[in-house]
Amino acid sequence: MKRGFFITFEGGEGAGKSTQIHRLADRLRGAGHEVVVTREPGGSAGAEAVRHVLLSGAAEPFGPMMEAVLFAAARSDHVEQVIRPAVDRGAIVLCDRFLDSSRVYQGATSDVDPQFMVALERVAINGMMPDMTLILDLDPEEGLKRAASRRGDEIADRFEKETIEVHRKRREAYLSIANAEPDRCIVIDASGGVEQVERVIAAAVFAAIAAIDAPQQQAVAAVS
Ligand code: TYD
Repeated sequence: MKRGFFITFEGGEGAGKSTQIHRLADRLRGAGHEVVVTREPGGSAGAEAVRHVLLSGAAEPFGPMMEAVLFAAARSDHVEQVIRPAVDRGAIVLCDRFLDSSRVYQGATSDVDPQFMVALERVAINGMMPDMTLILDLDPEEGLKRAASRRGDEIADRFEKETIEVHRKRREAYLSIANAEPDRCIVIDASGGVEQVERVIAAAVFAAIAAIDAPQQQAVAAVS
């Protein structure tokens, strides 16, 4: 059976990831693909149980290392229960945040030992590296404004409430990951209108899917 495709969406607060994921999912389903939409922290029963502990700030007093371990535990459950089975049966998985969020939020903008982060990542993903990562890039001032208006009266979560300098460092960290891994990561300018960003994302994703299908079709043609 043909293997599926694993796409992750990354970026700072208010970059529009979930809106774009749902629009892309509709387009892909319209083209006949099975699509699984999921998110982190969460996405599986075990990981959703950990989500509240992380986003409420309940784990914050125990330090960033404890938070990093909890994100990794949630990710491991999510990978084995949801992501890997879906990709193995041929689905396209769209995941709102994944390993790069840990690299950026726990790694680059807190003081957890980089070697420890590398080891945690390896255990958590267990080989399930995204085929493609779309980094929605936006000025954090604009992103925080968008996030605040979306939130209404609710208070900012544990990670959204950091200073603007921290949000700026996160943006730089995402851009340096994209620079270091150009085969996996695509930076998308998220400052445009929703439809415009949607078209850019769709073009990138449909081209990537056509590229992985093409060699298979050539192989089939060669043996038939
Ligand atoms: P959430 O409200 O789910 O989403 P978003 O901000 O993407 O709209 O919040 C998830 C928060 O958790 C977000 O602030 C980033 C943070 N986070 C980490 O710090 N590390 C991680 O590994 C992940 C997956 C998320």
